[in-house]
Amino acid sequence: MEIKAIRGFNDILPDEVGKWHFVEETAREVFEGFGFSEIRIPILERTELFSRGIGEATDIVEKEMYTFTDRSGNSLTLRPEATASMARAYLEHQLYTFDPVAKLYCIGPMFRYERPQKGRYRQFYQIDVEVFGVENPMVDAEVIVMLIHFLRRVGLEKLELQINSLGCRDCRPRYREELKKFLKQKAFQLCEDCQRRLETNPLRIFDCKVETCQEAIADAPKVNDFICPECQKHFDKVREYLEAAGLAYILNPRMVRGLDYYTRTAFEVVSYQLGSQNAVTGGGRYDNLFGELGDFDSPGIGFAIGIERLVSLLPKDREFVQYPHLFIAALGVETLIEVYQIINQLHLEGIRAELDYEGKSLKSQMRRADKLKARYVLILGENELKQGKAVLRNMETKSQEEISMEGLIDILRKKLL
Ligand code: HAM
Repeated sequence: MEIKAIRGFNDILPDEVGKWHFVEETAREVFEGFGFSEIRIPILERTELFSRGIGEATDIVEKEMYTFTDRSGNSLTLRPEATASMARAYLEHQLYTFDPVAKLYCIGPMFRYERPQKGRYRQFYQIDVEVFGVENPMVDAEVIVMLIHFLRRVGLEKLELQINSLGCRDCRPRYREELKKFLKQKAFQLCEDCQRRLETNPLRIFDCKVETCQEAIADAPKVNDFICPECQKHFDKVREYLEAAGLAYILNPRMVRGLDYYTRTAFEVVSYQLGSQNAVTGGGRYDNLFGELGDFDSPGIGFAIGIERLVSLLPKDREFVQYPHLFIAALGVETLIEVYQIINQLHLEGIRAELDYEGKSLKSQMRRADKLKARYVLILGENELKQGKAVLRNMETKSQEEISMEGLIDILRKKLL
C-alpha cells in the first residue's frame, strides 16, 4: 500500500511555496525593521515546559499535545506553541543580562492533536513575535501596530482587531469565583468536559464549541468588569495608544484566549473571509509566565500568526510562482554539450533557465516551454551554432530575433534580469 502523509500534516507543494516565501520574507523585513531579531528554538522540549507554561487545565495540555517518552525515559513534547520555548531560551541563556528588553521572533511548525478541518491542522506553522522585559502599556500597542502593519503589507483586508483585558493574579481569582457561582446554577446545561472545567478552569468554558455551553455562558459575568484599578489603568492606556496610532478595534469582553499564561491585554485579529477558523493571529500579555518557569521574573507580550490561515487570505490576483526566465530548445543531440555549458553559466548568473534533456522535437519543446510559462525560448540548432547565432523568441509577444552567440550570456542577462 502507498504510504500517505499523516492526517492533519500537510505538504506545501512548489506552486504554493512562493506565497510562504513572500509571507516569511515580509515578516523578517517588517519585524527586523521594528528592531526584532530572529531566534531559532528546538521543536522538542520537556513536557513540563508546556504543562507549567500553558497550564495543566487547558485543552492544549490536557488533550492536544504530542507527548512521548524518549529512550532515556524523559517525557518530551513536540512544541504546541513557541512562547514558552522562547521564554525558556531567554532564561536559559540569561539574555536579560545583556539587556532585560528582548524583542524576538521565530518562524516554524507547531503541533497540536486537534480535529483537522479547513484552517486547523495537527502540524501548522506560526510566526511568533515576543517582547520580554517591558511592562509599559505602550509596548502592548506597539506590537499590535506592528502586527496590523505587517498584515496590511502582505495584502490582507477585512480584518478586525479585537481586544480585551483579562486582569491579573490579584483580580482574576475574584472573577473566577463569580463565574463559577454563575455557572453552577447552569451546570445541567454544560457538557461533561465543561462540568469538569467548572472546577478546574471555568474560564475555558468560553472556548467550548458545544451549543448548550455557549448558551449557558452567554450572560455570564465579564472578566473586564472585575479587573483591578491597576489593570484598568493599563488597559485604558493601551486603548489610548491604539487610538493615537489611528487603529480601529473592537472590545470583545468574551475573548479569554486558550492558554492560561495571559494577564491583562489579550487580542485577536479575525478575518471574515475564513469561515469558522477565523482567527489569523492571537496574542497578549503574560506577566506571570517567567515566574512559572524560573527564578527570573519578567513581563512579556507577543502574538502568533497562523501561516496556513494567512496564506489562504492572500490576494488572489497576485503572482507568487517563479517561472523560468528562459527555456532552451536545443535541436539535435550533438549540440547538447554546448547547451549544457550555456545553461550552467546562466544558472550562475541567476537566470532561471530550463532545458529539454531528451532531444525531443522543436514542437514538443515549445509546448513544454509554454506549459512551464517560460518568458523566452532560446532556439539552438546545429546550423545556428555553426554560424555563431541563436534565435530568441519572446513567448508573450511571439516576436523572434536572431542573436549572436558571442556575448550571449551578457545579452541574456540584460534582457532577462
Ligand atoms: P494561539 O491562539 O493558540 O496562540 O495560536 C495563534 C494562531 O496560530 C491562531 O490564531 C491560528 O492562526 C494559528 N493556529 C493555532 N492552532 C492552529 C491549528 N491547529 N491549525 C492551524 N493554525 C492554528 C498561541 O499559540 C500563542 N503562543 C500566541 C502568543 C504569542 N501569545 C503571546 N505570544
